[in-house]
Amino acid sequence: MSFPNVRMNRLRKTENIRRMVQDIRPSSNDLILPIFVQEGLKKSISIPSMPNVNRVSLEQAIEEGKEAVSLGIPAVILFGIPSEKNEGGSSAYNRTGIIQTAVRKMREELGEDLVIITDTCLCGYTIHGHCGIINEGKILNDETLELYGKIAVSQAESGSDIVAPSGMMDGQVKVIRDALHKEGYSDRMIMAYSVKFASAFYAPFRKAVDSTPQFGDRRSYQMNYSNPDEVMREIKLDIEEGADIVMVKPALAYLDIIHRVKSQINIPLAAYNVSGEYSLVKAAAEKGWVDEKKIILEIITAIKRAGSDLIITNHAKDVARWLNNK
Ligand code: PBG
Ligand code: ZN
Repeated sequence: MSFPNVRMNRLRKTENIRRMVQDIRPSSNDLILPIFVQEGLKKSISIPSMPNVNRVSLEQAIEEGKEAVSLGIPAVILFGIPSEKNEGGSSAYNRTGIIQTAVRKMREELGEDLVIITDTCLCGYTIHGHCGIINEGKILNDETLELYGKIAVSQAESGSDIVAPSGMMDGQVKVIRDALHKEGYSDRMIMAYSVKFASAFYAPFRKAVDSTPQFGDRRSYQMNYSNPDEVMREIKLDIEEGADIVMVKPALAYLDIIHRVKSQINIPLAAYNVSGEYSLVKAAAEKGWVDEKKIILEIITAIKRAGSDLIITNHAKDVARWLNNK
């Protein structure tokens, strides 16, 4: 059978027609910019494993926030690099810790113009680099939860709009929701890293924030990418426990997962276009092997098309500029 009147190419005939009939429209409103702020830093330090991304000082973090606002990026996610680490990661919940101070200052300077999200985890603050408390080489889930509650409350107290638990401990969303409620921060959101796979794509980030596990790996708490059926269980638990936004991480090798999750939930979904995805593209672009702008826009569109509402990406500033023709 033939359909002589159907010519799909008519829909692609000119740039203007393509624009008119385009279904998937990524926008700067979808983007979340990660910022790596280091305690005691005077001027920024480049991160070799992530070209064009820096560890920044408090002052520069504020500038980054302002730049995000000017580019139409609604939110940043802050990661802290403390000057001192210890076994229990206590500087993660210190009221005058690097994240808490950064949030306070950004809030002072930027008011409500910028949504401030804070990474709620211990791995950047513990000597061993794991996301929780360790005893005899094993993660102590419940002892860790108590600390996550403290971290979240200290971040909320400093003015964080959204706490983002990334450690993948069982029950973390509930403990954080309860702790926030008890301390009078029921208005704060939780963006849960619900589906976080144990992935080789995190390596450049770990160098960036110096959180590489000193022994073992994270496979006992992060998910096995060969078990896709666990995904909906994790998502449903986090929604029941009080998550406002759920996340799939990484993004690019997990577009099927993003699609699957989006089709089954009715709250916002975020995807984390992680460091390894970023650095692969940057390295190839530096060599002139790919067209950087084209490949990044293709990737961002793919993540959006898969079903993600929000995209955390180190490309955020470039993407916002390109989308807004700046
Ligand atoms: C850990 C954490 C990770 C990332 C952010 N927080 C992953 C990990 O080290 O296991 C990865 C971010 C990226 O790769 O861009 N809580
Ligand atoms: Zn962690």
